Amino acid sequence: MHQQNDQRATVLVVDDDICCSELLCGVLREMGVHTISAQSGAEAYELICQGECRIVISDWQMPEMTGIELCEKVRRRQLGDYVYFMLLTSLHGRTNLVRGLQAGADDFITKPFDPYELHVRLRVAERIVSLENRGLIVFSLAKLAESRDPETGAHLERMREYSRVLAQYLATQPKYEHIIDADFIRAIYLTSPLHDIGKVGIPDNILLKPGRLTSEEFEIMKQHTTIGCNTLDAAYAACPSAEYLRLARDIANSHHEKYDGSGYPNGLKGTEIPLCGRIVALADVYDALTTKRVYKDAFSHEAAKKIIIEGLGSHFDPDVVDAFLHKEDRFIQIKNCLDGEDPLPVNAIPVPMSVSPPVAMAGLST
Ligand SMILES: [Fe+2]
Ligand SMILES: [Fe+2]
Repeated sequence: MHQQNDQRATVLVVDDDICCSELLCGVLREMGVHTISAQSGAEAYELICQGECRIVISDWQMPEMTGIELCEKVRRRQLGDYVYFMLLTSLHGRTNLVRGLQAGADDFITKPFDPYELHVRLRVAERIVSLENRGLIVFSLAKLAESRDPETGAHLERMREYSRVLAQYLATQPKYEHIIDADFIRAIYLTSPLHDIGKVGIPDNILLKPGRLTSEEFEIMKQHTTIGCNTLDAAYAACPSAEYLRLARDIANSHHEKYDGSGYPNGLKGTEIPLCGRIVALADVYDALTTKRVYKDAFSHEAAKKIIIEGLGSHFDPDVVDAFLHKEDRFIQIKNCLDGEDPLPVNAIPVPMSVSPPVAMAGLST
């Protein structure tokens, strides 16, 4: 079990009136929110730049630097995380609202504040902040993976589309309608490009080897699944509310498992393999098959389809193959639409040119 961390963002309360500030901080603390406070815009700005908070509730009217001016100053920053800015005001009317929005405020709280409304608005703020974190984490990890993986960015782009199509189709089937929801579909689209993130931990002489891997080398190559899993699991443990990291971890760990238990790293069988891994396995292999590699031409859709059907029940989950067969037109469309040039300067995948397609598949998309 993962340790449950305090996931709530720290809120900075900015008010020159110490009584108002203490009142608001008190209410926030009762909601379980960690607060810090500043009595001037300058003090607040310093705390923001130090990364002490991601949510600010600032009084509008303060001497020297007003709430609006503070907000504008925060928005002019080039670096740093996005700060969700709420203006606290007793001023009413559209003009002030527009002024606040123009300055970059995200929301307004009118004084005297209603604790329930404050609570709800704070939840919105926390959601926005966590969304930004999510995009950022996944983007940085995907870029890292891309820099070490000889497969191209276009591969990642296509396989996330294929994964989404498969998940969307399965969601319409009675067996999966209570398992796959919109969040699952979004999350698989978001995190499937991280499937090979663990390749960052594979030595260059193996990852970039321009030839067939020896069996010892292949054993090391296989570790990209557990390296990826451990990395993402550590991220998930640090942020257990980020469910998408659990999905990313499971994909990294299970995308080379095979339905009959002959895959790696754990030899999981059938539904022991997380559903996301079963989906990504097909998406990944289809793209590897239909893409030109230095050792082979791209297989046609029909040839790839034949290989996938041959792998039904052995390599692939029959339900996922069924989804593929129902959505093959979408696969062709995606492939045609996102078919970038795939330079692949090195042969990271240990398959000789002469092998027949079913054997070739065994080595594809390590
Ligand atoms: Fe891949
Ligand atoms: Fe892989």
